[in-house]
Amino acid sequence: MSLIVQATPEAIAQAAERLRAGALVTLPTETVYGLGADATNDRAVAAIFEAKGRPTFNPVIVHVANRAQAEEIVEFDIRARLLAELFWPGPLTMILPRKPGSAVSLLCSAGLPTIAVRCPSHPVARQLIAALGRPIAAPSANASGLLSPTTPQHVAQSLGEKAGMILAGGKAAVGLESTVIDLSGDVAVLLRPGGVTLDELEMHLGEVRVETEAVDDKPKSPGQLLKHYAPRTPLRLHAVDVAVGEALLAFGSLKFMGMQGGGFAKQKLPDGWLLNLSETGDLNEAAANVFAMLHTLDGCGAKTIAVMNIPDTGLGLAINDRLKRAAGAQEASPQK
Ligand code: TXA
Ligand code: MG
Repeated sequence: MSLIVQATPEAIAQAAERLRAGALVTLPTETVYGLGADATNDRAVAAIFEAKGRPTFNPVIVHVANRAQAEEIVEFDIRARLLAELFWPGPLTMILPRKPGSAVSLLCSAGLPTIAVRCPSHPVARQLIAALGRPIAAPSANASGLLSPTTPQHVAQSLGEKAGMILAGGKAAVGLESTVIDLSGDVAVLLRPGGVTLDELEMHLGEVRVETEAVDDKPKSPGQLLKHYAPRTPLRLHAVDVAVGEALLAFGSLKFMGMQGGGFAKQKLPDGWLLNLSETGDLNEAAANVFAMLHTLDGCGAKTIAVMNIPDTGLGLAINDRLKRAAGAQEASPQK
């Protein structure tokens, strides 16, 4: 059984210690319970996807204690300041451009140049973020595809021990996920309806474009609405060797990875053209590294990035999904 504990000050301090050590903690928020990790720790964020059994890397919301902490990781404009003033702390998530040098894991935004930030109003969530002193990445604390949890018992039933320590903070008052608004472009776009209504948003922002699943009654998968990160350099998947001019995104042992025309990749590749997602073949480590390493190799000057085979199990499914999308996106736009 997972551990449900009353959120006393001692329990909150202990939960913050666990987060600092890279473990997951389930925390109450006013919307739904969240499965939390230190948002600056790549491996801890990867563990969220593992625990939820998500077959894809959807970006997750980064929870902050206040606007000042949010301004350390994303760029606020006048609209974002106004909405924060009006609706924070509370059930409003804003998607904003990532600040250069932001400490938040690239996995939180699935490689995108934006981060979804929210300042929850639940006192336990706020105390936990304050005790950690860093933002907390947290999707709803349910197994992928199941209903969002509004009580600690829901979480225990859905995720069992994968929920980590569950901080109990009563029944979630809103009971519905936060409103998600994308403010990264000139036009504000409502991506998910929630506690803060469209009317309220339009009252302050003027026209808001609506791009939610329910907009034309045709259910779309949430992933369909998302822009996906893809490197500009073409990817060659399932590579068993490396061509001249190619960089290599490796996984596991490189012992037998050769260059076309002879020699071993390890010796022949220029400095910075070889990165290994996980030398020991650890899928959690690979997930933690995938976006950052793609970004780095995208800038090294190679004409193609050869990617070694990654097993299609556990987090490997999500990694392969993302690599396939990245490779497919390039086929669809060959001018890139
Ligand atoms: O109420 C809530 O928002 C709860 C509590 C725990 O705070 N959290 C939650 O997180 O519902 P999650 O991961 O289940 O939903 C996050 C939503 C997803 O639809 C995701 O695609 C979208 O926000 N999202 C997050 N970051 C994004 C980004 N950078 N760009 C576009 N969409 C993003
Ligand atoms: Mg969810």
